[in-house]
Amino acid sequence: MAFKKDLSVDFAGVKCLNPFFLASSPVGNNYDMISKAFEAGWGGVFYKNQDSVPEHEISPIFGVEEGDVGRSWGMFKNCEHASQNSMEQNLDYMRRLKEHYPEHRIFATIMGGSDEDWTNLVVSVAQAGIDGVELNMSCPHMGRDNMGADVGCNPALVEQYTRVAKKAARSGLKVITKMTPNITNMVPSALAAKNGGADGVSAINTVKSIIDLDKDLFTTEPVVNGKSAISGLSGRAVKPISLRFLCEMKQNPGLKDFPISSIGGVYTWEDAVDYLLLGATNIQVCTSIMEYGYRIIDDITSGLSYWMDEKGFEKLDDFIGKALPNIVSPSQFTRTFKIHPAFNHDKCIGCGRCYVSCYDGGHQAIKWLDEERRPQLIEENCVGCHLCQKVCPVINCITPGEVVFDEGAKPEKIVYKKNFD
Ligand SMILES: Cc1cc2nc3c(=O)[nH]c(=O)nc-3n(C[C@H](O)[C@H](O)[C@H](O)COP(=O)(O)O)c2cc1C
Repeated sequence: MAFKKDLSVDFAGVKCLNPFFLASSPVGNNYDMISKAFEAGWGGVFYKNQDSVPEHEISPIFGVEEGDVGRSWGMFKNCEHASQNSMEQNLDYMRRLKEHYPEHRIFATIMGGSDEDWTNLVVSVAQAGIDGVELNMSCPHMGRDNMGADVGCNPALVEQYTRVAKKAARSGLKVITKMTPNITNMVPSALAAKNGGADGVSAINTVKSIIDLDKDLFTTEPVVNGKSAISGLSGRAVKPISLRFLCEMKQNPGLKDFPISSIGGVYTWEDAVDYLLLGATNIQVCTSIMEYGYRIIDDITSGLSYWMDEKGFEKLDDFIGKALPNIVSPSQFTRTFKIHPAFNHDKCIGCGRCYVSCYDGGHQAIKWLDEERRPQLIEENCVGCHLCQKVCPVINCITPGEVVFDEGAKPEKIVYKKNFD
């Protein structure tokens, strides 16, 4: 039995067993699936989207970008719409889940296209006795205009529809507005959701994308009768984008205490810690479950527990948001020093990658020490960029070396990564 700490957390005023929820997607679309996930250790679900007018699904629905090492679900593209179950079926599933798993949390994701739609959807799903609704203003591949991401890019509509949904929600039903990443700045939309009465926001939905083109059919995946569309990218590739939006929202004075559920590319406990360190109090997961199944929750919760133990953290609140003060504007960087690389010649395998990258993509600061192609630094050329370390295939063969201050600069204590593993 893996070691587990207490991972309970408050999200938007709702007590959760842990912050890990199934994201609104195929991974949470009926009773059997979700009960299996709850038994495996997931804390809750954002139940698969219910639309005012369900779309007939296409076939196939998915595409995957081929990576360096074969098939890589880091870049997963889908063009899926809402739950294909009827509202009555979904209400029955959610009711039974609530009855059998009273400590687990259920949010129903919904999407309307008018004030009336949103009102009707909130009133309908609330009948299942759930904890809250998630307002999808973020789907990037709608069959109709003026829904999904089109709404999320328009703060006035975000506020209007959030207000309408909040008004329709019975007391105690939480309202979370789901943000689109297909926007330059998410803060105005998040503030609009807050002004409209949301209890929190979730981010991100998928990123508008085109992946590898098929070189015979001259279109991208999924290929639907010879055609494709710009549609949603998820998985590892979107995590850095999601982290950035989370950070910007959490650093905004109007949003710093506003609950955020983060989504995008969570595969491991390390991914989860990244989101928690930037202030998320809930984490949703889709693509990695589609690839590996619900069982990944065990690694996520035990890895997180061991890490917390090592760091001396008793509960999630001890470190949620801890990285926020350390993400600053580039204008605030200390720019008076550089850190030279140090080469461990015993570990060097003489592959020459550091030399090639430094010459062709850097500052020509490496020469060969000997015939075994071991690197030697040309100090006057080195700018301390550490590209050499980034391409080195041997762990800790290249590490931080001497800290060199600019002429005339006052030496000070510099904080840096001691190892480059
Ligand atoms: C196949 C698929 C279907 C999805 N369906 C929905 C949906 O119905 N409603 C919604 O709000 N988001 C939907 N999403 C977006 C996910 O909830 C999530 O925001 C996104 O995939 C990023 O998380 P991930 O990298 O863990 O997959 C879907 C994603 C995928 C891959």
